[in-house]
This record gives sequence, C-alpha cells and structure tokens, in this order.
Amino acid sequence: MPHLPRQGRIVVLTGAGISKESGLDTFRCEGGLWSKVRLEDVATPEAFAANPALVQDFYNARRRGLQDPAIAPNPAHLALARLEAAWPGEVLVVTQNIDDLHERAGSRNLIHMHGELLKVRCQVCDDPFEWRGDLTVDERCPDCRRPGRLRPHVVWFGEMPLAMDRIERALMDCDLFVSIGTSGNVYPAAGFVLGVRRAGRAHTVELNLEPSEGASLFAETVLGPASQVVPAFVERLLGAA
Ligand code: APR
Repeated sequence: MPHLPRQGRIVVLTGAGISKESGLDTFRCEGGLWSKVRLEDVATPEAFAANPALVQDFYNARRRGLQDPAIAPNPAHLALARLEAAWPGEVLVVTQNIDDLHERAGSRNLIHMHGELLKVRCQVCDDPFEWRGDLTVDERCPDCRRPGRLRPHVVWFGEMPLAMDRIERALMDCDLFVSIGTSGNVYPAAGFVLGVRRAGRAHTVELNLEPSEGASLFAETVLGPASQVVPAFVERLLGAA
C-alpha cells in the first residue's frame, strides 16, 4: 500500500459519481443527464437568455428531485464528514456537485465550485440565497423587487467557477489530494491534479468507478463504487494518522 500522510492538509475533489449511489444522475455515464438533454439548451448563459422558461423548468425538476426523501447522503459522503471531524489537520472538500449531500452528511469545510441547486441569485443584487421551491420566469427578487431577474445559483458552461483563489491556494499547499467520482472532462477541476503535482509535495489518489481521463496523473488509483472505496480509504487514512 502506498504511503499515506499521517497529518497535514487534505483536499478532496468530488464529482457526480459520489452522489450516484444516492440516486442522483451523473452527466456522462450511460443514461447520464447529458444523454437526456443537450447541455447547450439548459446549461449556458446563452440558453438562459434565449429560453429562460426551459432552463428554469430544467432546474426546477432537479431541485424538486433533490428534495425527494429517498435522496440521502451515502456512506461515501458520510466517510468524508467523518474524516473532517477525526483528521489531525484540515480537510477541504471541493465539490463540482450542486446537490446538498455533503452538507447533509456533516461536511462543513466545503466549497461548491459549480454553485448550489438549492440557491438562486438575482442578476442585479447578485447575492445567492436559499430557494427550495420552483422558480418562475417572472419571479420578483425579494430585495430589489425586480421581476424576471432570478436565476439558479449554478455555474454554467462558459462561466467562472466559484472560489477559485481559495481552491488554488489549498491545492498548492496540500499533503494529500483525493479525487472522487469525476470523469476529468471539465476544467478547471480536471486540471487540479496537475497543479498539485507541480507543487511537488502531495500524494495524489483517484477513487472512481472507472479510470477518469486523467487517471494516469494520479500516484494511486482505487477503482470501485464510492460507497465502498471511500469509507475504506478513510479508514486507511485514519488508521495511519
Ligand atoms: N462511484 C464512484 N464513481 C462513480 C460511480 C460510483 N457509484 N458512478 C459513476 N462514477 C464515476 C464515473 O466513472 C465518472 O468518472 O463518476 C464520474 C462521473 O462523471 P461525469 O458524469 O462526467 O460527472 P462529473 O465529472 O462530476 O462532471 C463534471 O461537468 O456537466 C458538468 O457541471 C457539471 O459538475 C459537472 C461537471
């Protein structure tokens, strides 16, 4: 078994694969979201400008789906929360996911780099706030009272991911970088492992159902469903601590 750090800073990147066993769709796997709807129609600023009702309906359906009682954190989310609580150093989870399963599992030190499905923001006021119902096209912003300016607080293709300064600082200063359940297709997240390798200090591990696009860049790869391989990896880490 490759050497794992006993302390220090851990950065964990998660993708849709960690939420698959909780019942949420991935994007590019067999039957994934982008095989059901064209991302150009629902996940770009141009799509929202051209057809706001279609985009709002797409996110309304996902927002309702996420609040289905059957959707809950799985052992992978819970293991990461346990790691954050028990590790003798910082554990930062950077998720590409817009679901709230990491929070519901107990993770606190968490960045949603692609936004959050249960938040909306006014295109004038710009501050995101929690929103659990459907969003209609002419909904009024509760602050500026303008109609039709509320949008999902989700980062669309062509938009800048959130908190990149904080993420980059953490990647350059970590002792362990773990990537879980992401295909390595979308940048900048797909390039994080390169930045960590360039900093030259951290051990890099990929936990995935199948090798990602960037699998060869990781010092260690563990293949299997997240609900099995993530708890086992966390036990290995805490055993080494
Ligand atoms: N356990 C672990 N990994 C899994 C599981 C599972 N049970 N099921 C699927 N996977 C893996 C797949 O092998 C794949 O590598 O999860 C990954 C899912 O890849 P994508 O569907 O491309 O999702 P993701 O990498 O998160 O996409 C990144 O693309 O569309 C945008 O903004 C969207 O955040 C998303 C980004």
